[in-house]
Amino acid sequence: MPAPNPDALDFLLSRRSRPAKTLRAPAPTREDLAPLLTAAARSPDHGKLEPWRFIVIEAGAMARLADLAQARAEALHKSAEDTAKARSQFDMGHLAVAVIEVQRPSEKIPAIEQTYSAGAVCLALLNAALAAGWGGNWLTGWVAHDREFCTTGLGLAENERVAGFIHIATEGSIPPERPRPDLDAITEWVAE
Ligand SMILES: Cc1cc2nc3c(=O)[nH]c(=O)nc-3n(C[C@H](O)[C@H](O)[C@H](O)COP(=O)(O)O)c2cc1C
Repeated sequence: MPAPNPDALDFLLSRRSRPAKTLRAPAPTREDLAPLLTAAARSPDHGKLEPWRFIVIEAGAMARLADLAQARAEALHKSAEDTAKARSQFDMGHLAVAVIEVQRPSEKIPAIEQTYSAGAVCLALLNAALAAGWGGNWLTGWVAHDREFCTTGLGLAENERVAGFIHIATEGSIPPERPRPDLDAITEWVAE
């Protein structure tokens, strides 16, 4: 018989992000964050390549990244809406962990599996933050895919990219549930 962990299952069945704009101070301290990063690093990783790392963006770095997002938006002739959205995640940010996908050369492990593993780390970190009682939100936005922003703002190497900015701080409000997938529509049972 399986040994159930009903608290963990209840958490997974009810977990819900907290929109970044609703997050408030305080953000977790370095001490608070350490077990959450440890949990996130305990993610499935084919071939033990560890194809990811963390950049913790603390409050003091947010203004610099907001200004860089603005500068990149101007250089790329982004719309006013795209510009405002790109800088707002840093303007309103208290703390965000940039989960960085680090592609490792491997003859055995396909690149896409390293990408999947980085995505798993993002969700594990978000879930650890929520389980610890923080509000959290996984964001990207176009800046996450802008090479210049990533190089200048975060110091990423060529084999690295942003899998997600996981914003973590105190929750301001609990959002209503959002529609969830129709399980029958996305599930096929293969019996033979
Ligand atoms: C890779 C990825 C990138 C995302 N980027 C954004 C974003 O830039 N802006 C946004 O509003 N939501 C973004 N989202 C969606 C938010 O994380 C949203 O809060 C989430 O889908 C809520 O899911 P939950 O209620 O199941 O936790 C992104 C989601 C993923 C998986």
